[in-house]
Amino acid sequence: MQNPVTVIQSVRLDDENDTLVLLDQTLLPNETKFLELKEMEDIWEAIYQLKVRGAPAIGIAAAYGAYLGTKKSTAETYEALFADFTKVKDYLATSRPTAVNLFWALKRMEERFKQEAGKSVAKVKAALKEESENIRAEDEKICEAIGEHALSLLEPGWGILTHCNAGTIATAKYGTALAPIYLGQEKGYNFNVYADETRPLLQGARLTAWELQQAGVDVTLICDNMASIVMKEGKIQAVLVGCDRVAANGDSANKIGTSGVAILAKHYNIPFYVCAPLSTIDLECKTGDDIHIELRPSEEITTKWYEQSMAPEGVQTYNPAFDVTDHSLITGIVTENGIAYAPYTESLPKMFKK
Ligand code: MRU
Repeated sequence: MQNPVTVIQSVRLDDENDTLVLLDQTLLPNETKFLELKEMEDIWEAIYQLKVRGAPAIGIAAAYGAYLGTKKSTAETYEALFADFTKVKDYLATSRPTAVNLFWALKRMEERFKQEAGKSVAKVKAALKEESENIRAEDEKICEAIGEHALSLLEPGWGILTHCNAGTIATAKYGTALAPIYLGQEKGYNFNVYADETRPLLQGARLTAWELQQAGVDVTLICDNMASIVMKEGKIQAVLVGCDRVAANGDSANKIGTSGVAILAKHYNIPFYVCAPLSTIDLECKTGDDIHIELRPSEEITTKWYEQSMAPEGVQTYNPAFDVTDHSLITGIVTENGIAYAPYTESLPKMFKK
């Protein structure tokens, strides 16, 4: 390791005060502010408003929310506590629909609850706390493993294009699509990263450019509509993106605009990799058509970034937060257990068995 990089942690539990500490990602890059949340309503709001965002980070926040919400319960029996836990879990599950990690983490909390059957209320609450901490700690290791596998696909000095933010702040640590960039940085790979700004919420400009710059990575910010020219000019040797849900056939839902980048990459013969933990792979979704795409408010398109309106008053808008990249456009799906290649219906289930 030549230059160890320091990355920022965006989601953790303050163990002493039993408080969820979240980096407010809506304020970046202008302000680095950490929120301290205890109430499940505030955690729901933080997820909905993208104060915490990125599929793995949403899952971790929801797990902590399930613990903190259940901790408040005054139930005196296992059964009564389970009823309260279920209300908390179902409520948190309504915060955002696309990232399967949210549902995965809540299900895992439920399974842990059930494993504690018959135990005292205090013991079950302690188990929920432990499980939420496990989910966070495991994600750190998972991201590192994704980074190692993805790095094996890249060569020093390459130009890499990424869309949205699949970096350290979208996970427990290191990120998914950005994990190989950080590992490469430590090994002196000198990548040139091109970050799509990612309209309408600018995760690429506000978050990816910010966190890579903080880590000393060579990063160039481009508008979304510039991806074609940088590819045509030979500046890009690989595209790496994160993911919110991978269907059994490899169709992958990620931030709106990702599928356009994949189509461009195919045109220019550039490999396009999706980096995703197994918790993002949803074998129950047969194809991308089964993935629920979140629709978000018009204001994100019409009024978000300027004091003056960016569009005529009353104009109709359509604001899907994600799109699905067809599996035929994906060169490989990088997980913590290795790289899955087409046919994904065969390779993805094998990843779970390793
Ligand atoms: O709406 P967001 O900002 O939560 O969308 C995030 C993405 O699309 C990320 O690429 C994805 O969650 C992967 S994060 C490792």
